[in-house]
Amino acid sequence: MDDTVATPWKIRAQSVGKVYDTAAGPFTAVEDFDLTVGDGEFVAIVGPSGCGKSTVLRMVAGLEDVSSGRIEIARGSDPGKPTNSVVFQEYAIFPWKTVIENVAFGLQMRGISRAERLDVARHWLDRVGLAKFAEYYPHQISGGMKQRVSIVRALANDPEVLLMDEPLGALDAQTRVVLQEELLRIWEETRKTVLYITHSLEEAVLLGDRVVLMSAQPGRILDIYQIDLPRPRSFETTNLPAFADYRARIWDKLSAEVTRAMEMQP
Ligand SMILES: Nc1ncnc2c1ncn2[C@@H]1O[C@H](COP(=O)(O)OP(=O)(O)O)[C@@H](O)[C@H]1O
Ligand SMILES: [Mg+2]
Repeated sequence: MDDTVATPWKIRAQSVGKVYDTAAGPFTAVEDFDLTVGDGEFVAIVGPSGCGKSTVLRMVAGLEDVSSGRIEIARGSDPGKPTNSVVFQEYAIFPWKTVIENVAFGLQMRGISRAERLDVARHWLDRVGLAKFAEYYPHQISGGMKQRVSIVRALANDPEVLLMDEPLGALDAQTRVVLQEELLRIWEETRKTVLYITHSLEEAVLLGDRVVLMSAQPGRILDIYQIDLPRPRSFETTNLPAFADYRARIWDKLSAEVTRAMEMQP
């Protein structure tokens, strides 16, 4: 288990626990969760369905209270920056706004002038090849493009940390690969601190500097793997023998947890 970070930390979770009150009584979703994410680091979390990944992300985002422990996000020097932006699996974009208005939305909320926010939004649309769709409405573009819009909207906010919960989970396999490569490229350029949840082990190994493996309920950290694959990475990276080694090593433990999670179900 490797939870040391070389750079200053950006996200620090200490002894975090989450207990939900349910009709059947208290339910421990997350227990003893300790994780430090370095500035500019990309950390991917994998674990069986229902192990508490989304709960962790929502707590880091401040959308859910912790029941115990604490979570901190280190702030940079710019107090105007939002602490975090979240990208969910469902396209959380407004159907009545155009693509560019959607991307500019967070900046609008921060009171940035119309001219400036459209400038920033246009810059981001350019970077992901969406400039010509700026005036389109969400129903006029594909699912892959909608998710691209969600991702650049989050980036346009320039948050301290970017939180992503299975952002590519609803896409077909080919679109997913294209967006993985896009994410890799944007990340190389921006070096944002990212906490990234995925149910795909391949995706976690391809994208992450480290992969955190969570156990079935209650969700705890079972292991943390340092992924020393060369960067910049691309789909080609998945052909490296070292990629297969990481995948096999992590799958060995993950598959045991997935089986355990299935057996726990009523
Ligand atoms: N608001 C809630 N109230 C009660 N139980 C919840 C709530 N949200 C999630 N859970 C339960 O907590 C566990 C972890 O959920 P979640 O974080 O969504 O897991 P994952 O994202 O890994 O699939 C699951 O058993 C889920 O049913
Ligand atoms: Mg989830």
